[in-house]
Amino acid sequence: MRIGILTGGGDCPALNAVIRAAVKTSVGFGWEVVGIEEGFDGLVHCKTRPLTKASVSGILHLGGTILGTTSAANPFGYPTLDDRGQTVERDLSHKVVSNFRKLGLDALIVIGGDGTLAIAERFYEKGIPLVAVPKTIDNDIGGTVSSFGFDTAVNTARDALDKLHTTAESHRRVIVVEVMGRHAGWIAVHSGVAGGADIILIPEIPYDPAKVAAIIIMRERLGKHFSIVVVAEGAFAQGAEPTYAEPKRPGRVGGRVASTITELTGKETRVVVLGHLQRGGPPTTFDRVLGTRFGAAAARLIHNGAFGRMVSLLPSEVKSIPIRDAIGQQKRVPIDSDVIESAREIGISFGN
Ligand code: F6P
Repeated sequence: MRIGILTGGGDCPALNAVIRAAVKTSVGFGWEVVGIEEGFDGLVHCKTRPLTKASVSGILHLGGTILGTTSAANPFGYPTLDDRGQTVERDLSHKVVSNFRKLGLDALIVIGGDGTLAIAERFYEKGIPLVAVPKTIDNDIGGTVSSFGFDTAVNTARDALDKLHTTAESHRRVIVVEVMGRHAGWIAVHSGVAGGADIILIPEIPYDPAKVAAIIIMRERLGKHFSIVVVAEGAFAQGAEPTYAEPKRPGRVGGRVASTITELTGKETRVVVLGHLQRGGPPTTFDRVLGTRFGAAAARLIHNGAFGRMVSLLPSEVKSIPIRDAIGQQKRVPIDSDVIESAREIGISFGN
């Protein structure tokens, strides 16, 4: 078997952990692995490089993706120049299918967000045997409780909130922190809850500016002369339209919220836009483990011929159970769990 791996869309911490695990597991199955550079663009132009155990060694802790990525190369609507030098979109999907064959590939692992996965699904329908790994710091891909990169992004935002608290308090200011999340407020909710935000604004709950102002004024009366407001970039006021649109302009939403607060409360405000900081840096422990599990699981899907499928994490929600059901049964690491299997597949020994 000869399989290809590509990363598409925005980068995300732990992409390299996925690549590393997928390569090591595939090599363990006796397969050859080809890294496709810059997402589907690499299949349009045959930009590839061999991936071996040696070439993925030492990348686990690195942010970004060693394969490079792009969000601007959809082969079904590929931007090209026409005779008059105008940019027009052409369907180059046939090139991808023929290059897939030309490269001698038997299967493909596509690691990407919703845009990349939608492209992958179309290629699966066109006959490319592929499996998918969900990637997003925004955590907004359905069918999986979490995707790698989210935990790292949340930690970056939470760390910023910890630091901003003291300066907000010292200067008696309102600090508005804009975090990523165009369609979903996961980063805002998790970082805000962990970082002690006073107000969290997310796209799922259009906000009432008067209520936001009332909370800040009430805190003022209680002797809390500062407030921390976390805003997802897709948040919008009741009755208004979402303002996060093309062209992307990070900071617009945070700026709007801050000026509304100043207008309605008279408080001095500052805006901090975390932007792409949230996409970088070494992945957290959780993301390294999840990325490793996803990468190894993707190779296993191919091994089992389960094409057209996406790996996903589906633990249960926080619920309650009778105490008696919990006691007297120590929870040990299930030795047949996927985390143990993946660890073994990438060459970790448990000494047995
Ligand atoms: O990865 C998703 C995301 O982080 C969004 O929250 C953000 O709006 C977008 O990517 C920005 O991506 P880029 O600047 O790379 O186009």
